[in-house]
Amino acid sequence: MGYAERQLARTDTEVPPSSYPSHTRRSGRWQFTGPEAWTSGFLPGAMWLLYRQTEKPVWRRRAARRQAALAGQQLNTVTHDVGFILLSSYARAWQLTGRPSYRQVALRGAASLASRYSGAVGATRSWGARQGREFTVIVDNMMNIGLLFWGSRHGGPCRWRAIAHRHALTTLRDHVRPDGSTYHVVDYDAATGALVRRRTWQGTHAGSTWSRGQAWAIHGFAAAYAQTRDRRLLEGARRVARWWLRHVPRDRVPPWDFDEDGILAGAGLDRVLVAGRPRRPRDSSAAAIAASGLLDLARLEADRRRARRFRQAGVATLRSLATPRYLARGTRTRSILHEGTAHHARGLIDTGLIFGDYYFLEGLARARLDI
Ligand code: GLY
Repeated sequence: MGYAERQLARTDTEVPPSSYPSHTRRSGRWQFTGPEAWTSGFLPGAMWLLYRQTEKPVWRRRAARRQAALAGQQLNTVTHDVGFILLSSYARAWQLTGRPSYRQVALRGAASLASRYSGAVGATRSWGARQGREFTVIVDNMMNIGLLFWGSRHGGPCRWRAIAHRHALTTLRDHVRPDGSTYHVVDYDAATGALVRRRTWQGTHAGSTWSRGQAWAIHGFAAAYAQTRDRRLLEGARRVARWWLRHVPRDRVPPWDFDEDGILAGAGLDRVLVAGRPRRPRDSSAAAIAASGLLDLARLEADRRRARRFRQAGVATLRSLATPRYLARGTRTRSILHEGTAHHARGLIDTGLIFGDYYFLEGLARARLDI
């Protein structure tokens, strides 16, 4: 925690106002974005998590200052990412401070997200204009619907909970394979709701399992079960978690995509050989997201044997992330974790990722404080 505090304090001095860190560059310094990037909520979110754990007022002040420029995102209806942006910042800020103005921003954001729902598809649209014929849903969206669940518990309409529940069931049906692995992207016909194709955006190929997508599924299905107590979603969460546990390497930090054949066949970055085999960059952020989701699932499990297994796996993953291989301590990198893969096809590998840091802190809070 001391190291996390030092890294985030330095980040706070280096990131200009109204700019948001996404990933670290080769120099170790952060690349910045504007408030509309899907990653913008995670710096204030990480600061709120530090406030929760340390109870130091300085983290509350920093978090509040950092999230101020995100308020305009409450009117963002062009992407599902309004969920990521406002859940990690304003909704968490409300949870920790009870300030009504924070609740209002998050509620308006939930209304924006709800405007992307289609009854024909039974899901909220991930990308693109609300009117387009092609209706794309990515597995990551399981995280964004958390804002709808949150909103309906905090004064918003019951409909938001119902549409988030429907979205989770549609994703369970169409993104999760029978063995518990996941597709990244599913396209539907917006008019009829018919499934058009399954594919990937950040993975190796359409049939692969992109590691961060699988981690989003663990975290998202556990959270959706917590909100609905629908046993189908508990079964879904168990299924994706079990698949993860069967496939992660010994140190529990996955390669950026689980499909080794796809990676070995791929050209370019993976062609760097280590001990005669192509190197497979890891994604520490996927491990952090999964660890936090496994700890949530353990808390929700009535079956004690499963609960113990998920908790042990979550804690073991955090411990692995805290080893020198994944912790950026002693390097010039500004993030807490390194060895993340932001987007392999764009060459964004071996980076620090602000969302990896956020979910690492969330996982630590869940392990230590049971939040
Ligand atoms: N939602 C984007 C990502 O996980 O990279």
